[in-house]
Amino acid sequence: MSDAPKQVTTLDLLEMKSAGKRIVMLTCYDALFARLLDAAGIDVLLVGDSVNQVLGGAESTLSATLDQMIYHTRIVRRGAQRALVVCDMPFLTYQVSREDAIRNAGRVMATTGCHAVKVEGGVHIAPTVRALVEVGIPVMGHIGLTPQSLHALGGPRVQGRDDAAAQRLRDDAVALQVGGAFAVVLELVPATLAGEITQSLTIPTIGIGAGPACDGQVLVLHDMLGLNDEFHAKFVKRFATLADDVRRAAGQFAAEVRAGRYPGPEHSFEK
Ligand code: KIV
Repeated sequence: MSDAPKQVTTLDLLEMKSAGKRIVMLTCYDALFARLLDAAGIDVLLVGDSVNQVLGGAESTLSATLDQMIYHTRIVRRGAQRALVVCDMPFLTYQVSREDAIRNAGRVMATTGCHAVKVEGGVHIAPTVRALVEVGIPVMGHIGLTPQSLHALGGPRVQGRDDAAAQRLRDDAVALQVGGAFAVVLELVPATLAGEITQSLTIPTIGIGAGPACDGQVLVLHDMLGLNDEFHAKFVKRFATLADDVRRAAGQFAAEVRAGRYPGPEHSFEK
């Protein structure tokens, strides 16, 4: 028998919803953090196209490329033994045609070893979700604030606030479930509406800025670790203040090198 922990599957997430067990998801972009998050028992590692902003310094996710996502997903998969690894399909790799979506998502699955892909959109993208699922690619949906449509939505604002917009979100969620998605991310959705959508679906919802009633929660890793300390949003809780630690450690290293205190004899070799 292998000592490797049992791999989380998409079916496990459905069972977790039925059993009332909360799903825990974080973004992850590299093997080192994948190993640490896996050991901490995080269920799902999302290789988000937010990598383009968080690590790449870009203003939005729009310029993330398929090659970039493949590279980061491959290295996350290398570090993860238990967690389900999901790759975010970047802008225009699945919206142009279903053939394109199958070819691009298929390349992601075949070359990275990930377990699923995520696409943004609801009613309009549901036929594409169905086409991907039919060729054997598990799909996580993403509705509410969909960052690839940031400019069309008028910025990072809460979605579904009026009756018509709330109804569109309910319809989007149902369309994704009917299309065969195994879970759906709800981003920046009023808590009551997110709870209502969660109750109405058999697939799990994973919230970010969508209140406590979702079946699971996701945050961007570098936000919750307090590493990305220039990003502030009401829904982000900082569980650590690592940016302070990095600045302190780098400052101390610089001071010790400049003062000739580092390296000392204990860090040096003779002969
Ligand atoms: O790219 C990303 O990090 C995401 C999360 C915000 C869900 O899509």
